[in-house]
Amino acid sequence: MKNKVILSKRYVNEAIEELKRNYELIIAEDENKPLIEVLKQNPNTIAVISFLSDKIDKEFIDIGKNLKIISNYAVGYNNIDIEYAKQKGIIVTNTPDVLTNATADLTMALILSVSRRIVESDKFVRQGKFKGWHALMFLGKELNGATIGIVGLGRIGTAVGIRAKGFGMNVIYYSKTRKPDIEKKYGFVYKTFVELIKTSDIVSLHLPYSEDVHHLFDKDAFDLMKKDAIFINVARGKIVDESYLAEKLEKKELFGAGLDVYEFEPNVTEKLKTLDNVVLTPHTGSATQKTRYEMAMLTINNIKNVLNGKKPLTPVY
Ligand code: GLV
Ligand code: GLV
Repeated sequence: MKNKVILSKRYVNEAIEELKRNYELIIAEDENKPLIEVLKQNPNTIAVISFLSDKIDKEFIDIGKNLKIISNYAVGYNNIDIEYAKQKGIIVTNTPDVLTNATADLTMALILSVSRRIVESDKFVRQGKFKGWHALMFLGKELNGATIGIVGLGRIGTAVGIRAKGFGMNVIYYSKTRKPDIEKKYGFVYKTFVELIKTSDIVSLHLPYSEDVHHLFDKDAFDLMKKDAIFINVARGKIVDESYLAEKLEKKELFGAGLDVYEFEPNVTEKLKTLDNVVLTPHTGSATQKTRYEMAMLTINNIKNVLNGKKPLTPVY
C-alpha cells in the first residue's frame, strides 16, 4: 500500500509524475474541492503539499490526524499555524534558497520598470501615441548613485543588494539582527528603520510576514519617505497599508511603486489599478521555469526524507 499524499494544486508535471511513482496521489484541484474537504475525505493522508493560498489552521491540522508533514510550496509560511502544527508533532517544510535568485530578479525588474516607466511607455507606444523622439519624454530616475534601502536582509534581501551594487547603488539595510559578515563582504550599511525610510531613493521589502510587521508601512512610515522615492514589495501585502500607499501614489507623494503582493490578495485596491506610477505583477516572484521546478522537487524531497525517517531538508522549525 502506497502512502497517501494530497497536492493542493497542479504544479510542474515532472514533479506530479514523481509523486505518482512514489505515493497514492490526490490532487485537490482536480477534485474541484477545497484542500480541507479533500483531507476530510482522506483522513489517512500522511503528507500534504500546500500552497501559500491554502489556510492551514487548527481545524485543518485537527482533521489531518495522520499527517506527518506539511510541505509548503513557498518560502513564506504565514499561511500555516506553525505553533499548532508543532504542538501536534507535524513537520512543516518550505522552499527557501531555490527561489532566491528568481525573486531578486523580479525585484530588479520592478525597480527598473518603475524607475524607467516601462509599462507606461509600452502602453503609449501601443496606443499609437509615439510621434517622434522628444527630449522630455518619459523621463525616469537613474539608479547609479541612488540609495536602496533593503528592509529585511535575509537571502532574498541580500541577493537584491548584490544586484543593486551591480547597478552602482548604495545599499543600506534594516534588519532585526545586524549582519556584520554581509556588511563586510558586500559593503552594505546598517541603518535604523526610520533612518532607512527617510534616506532611501528606493525602499524594497524582503521580510517574512508576522503580526509584528503588520502595516509596518503605514501612514507614519510612508510620510517619512522621500517625495520622489520608489517603493517595492515582493514580500507580503499585509506588511503595507495598501490604501494609504495608493493615496500617496495618487497625490504623487512618491515617484512610484512596484508591487508583486497585495494586502487582500488576490484582490488589489482599485485605485492602484488606475495609476500610471505603479507596476503590478500577480505574485510571480518565484515564477521561472527553473525555480518552480526546483521548488516542486524540494516539496517532494522533504516528504521522502520525513517518510524515510530522515531529517527534512528545509524544515521551518
Ligand atoms: C512566495 O511568496 C513564497 O513565499 O514563496
Ligand atoms: C526568506 O524569506 C529569504 O529571504 O529567503
